[in-house]
Amino acid sequence: MDGNGRWAQQRGQARTSGHRKGVEAVRQAVKSAGELGIKYLTLFAFSSENWRRPEDEVNDLMNLLKFFVRRDLAELHRENVRVRVIGDRKTLKPDILALLTEAEELTRENGALELIIAFNYGGRDDITRAARLLAMRAARGEIAPENIDEDMIGDAMDTSGVPDPDLVIRTSGEQRISNFLIWQAAYAEFVFLPCLWPDFDRSEFEEALRQFSSRNRRFGAVAEQDLALGS
Ligand code: IPE
Ligand code: MG
Repeated sequence: MDGNGRWAQQRGQARTSGHRKGVEAVRQAVKSAGELGIKYLTLFAFSSENWRRPEDEVNDLMNLLKFFVRRDLAELHRENVRVRVIGDRKTLKPDILALLTEAEELTRENGALELIIAFNYGGRDDITRAARLLAMRAARGEIAPENIDEDMIGDAMDTSGVPDPDLVIRTSGEQRISNFLIWQAAYAEFVFLPCLWPDFDRSEFEEALRQFSSRNRRFGAVAEQDLALGS
């Protein structure tokens, strides 16, 4: 979700108002995902690098998360949405942590859409914490280092049990991954939309899906029709 600041700037408003509008876009995106039959939606809400922003803006983003969970949790639960949070929890303030845990616990049994909120998340940090966990297990003699494989690493990461993303959408025209799900998105399709996140609506979502559907995914193999043609 990128472009909140620019959206506000274009209107001569403070960045905060872009983030506020961004929350509206989040609401719409969750609703659209449900309607479009998507089973997993991961939103990159706050990266482990976003702490470098001015303190006011960091506080603003924290408050908006609290606002979103407080205001929308009951509705998400009614809509049978399961909320899951990925990212490093150790450095989060207790009130934020409590809210996120409450959201996860309340919605644990829900099965319509899985909404994964990446908060204080960084892909390298996710991999680093998984490496630490496996190293500790090895040091305790629970696992043998030579047996560590991709599945074990995947299971030690925050997204354990969540399928790898098929599609990664980034708004605002930037064409970077910015440390988002770098392990999990190894074979994802990337769609970069010029629209700023506050303008991301159902039709933008559908545009991303259209682009996704036109891609030819081979996962390192050769497409079947090319094999048939002998090319
Ligand atoms: C995304 O918009 C905000 C998040 C932290 C999710 P930005 O704040 O990065 O907006 P720009 O890039 O400054 O326009
Ligand atoms: Mg940005």
